Amino acid sequence: MNERNSFIWPPANKEIAQDVFDYIHSGEPLSIYDRSGVVQELEVKLAAYFGAKYCLLTNSGTAALHSIYFALGLDEDSEVIVPDHTFRATVSPLFLIGCKLILCDCEYDSGNIDYQELEKKITDKTRAIVVTHIYGCPARMEKIMLIAKKYGIIVIEDAAQAFGAQYNGKKVGTFGLAAAFSLQENKLLYGGEGGFIITNDREIYERALLLGHAGKRAKSEVRSPERAFADMGYGAKYRIHPLSAVIALSQLKKVNKLISQTKKNMSLLHDVLSETPKLSLPPMTRSVSDRVYYSFPIKIEEERKSKLDQIRKSFKYYAIPQRDIGCRPLHQHPPFDTTKRPFFFKKSLKQTSAEFSTSDAFFARTIHLPPYYLSENRRIIQKIPGLIQKAFERAGY
Ligand SMILES: Cc1ncc(COP(=O)(O)O)c(C=O)c1O
Repeated sequence: MNERNSFIWPPANKEIAQDVFDYIHSGEPLSIYDRSGVVQELEVKLAAYFGAKYCLLTNSGTAALHSIYFALGLDEDSEVIVPDHTFRATVSPLFLIGCKLILCDCEYDSGNIDYQELEKKITDKTRAIVVTHIYGCPARMEKIMLIAKKYGIIVIEDAAQAFGAQYNGKKVGTFGLAAAFSLQENKLLYGGEGGFIITNDREIYERALLLGHAGKRAKSEVRSPERAFADMGYGAKYRIHPLSAVIALSQLKKVNKLISQTKKNMSLLHDVLSETPKLSLPPMTRSVSDRVYYSFPIKIEEERKSKLDQIRKSFKYYAIPQRDIGCRPLHQHPPFDTTKRPFFFKKSLKQTSAEFSTSDAFFARTIHLPPYYLSENRRIIQKIPGLIQKAFERAGY
């Protein structure tokens, strides 16, 4: 496999280039303070896509998550259960809130939060559960929503990796009180950088505006008594760059086609890899779960996981594309793996690492193949099993 065959995303795209060119030449603003122009257009279209009352664009998925967490009004005694196996930004905005973080182990097949473990972690201080739909695979929302209802707990979805995925015919991002998405360039729907919130809850929407959209926009939209703070805001500036919105709007036109193309490609990848010995493949679309793909995580055997680094190097040698996914289990990161208290926390966040054996095993065994979004990628997909076989042999696996 050579460079030309490598996975490249986003691809050079003439329509997007034209839309950006047209936008700049039309003299439209490069900073939008209120809900108007391209920001309004994209928010209206995204809200319609999800059948949600409110969509708020932000300048990143991290900012979208921070705005939601801020809007929950958590205090330092509030406990929030978060997946151990997720991208760091699922939890890092909670550091700014100052609540208690309770990590939860994952399921072995998908890597999503394990609902049985989740229930064991609930206490009378638990205020919220954060669910990531990891690598585009929907979490078990019917179980999670039942647990949340039983204990009266809020569910927030981190759907940054799962735009367009569905569970029981319902789009992920529409199950909980609010959901965050990312428009960063690795995502299927991208704007370069950017993110957005989806919610049906007016209070969450208004408080999110007060955090990151103070001034003109918050003043014109916040109706609650907190309106008094609309001009000053609560300290962040999370407006999206209009050109990111232009790019995302352009990309949104094609998103459904890309989702179905990707599904076909990934099911081809699954088929061609299914005969490869010593390899476990990720769960595919099942009757209730219509997934999308942020990556295609393949696992080597548990007993031979010490070979993972060597196998990765062999993949590089044969130029087999890998996605650098950055989902090291959170308990392995500072501040969760040390009793040393970070200067801005009152207490250490150290967790008991023995509780996360499944997310450790998932991470230690997994290589991420990229999500092949384009139909022209099918040629590369056909070559992958042969190359993986060679890479395994070279690594002595
Ligand atoms: C699960 C998850 N949450 C949050 C984010 C943060 O999004 P952003 O990079 O737009 O801040 C990402 C980004 O990859 C992600 O994968």
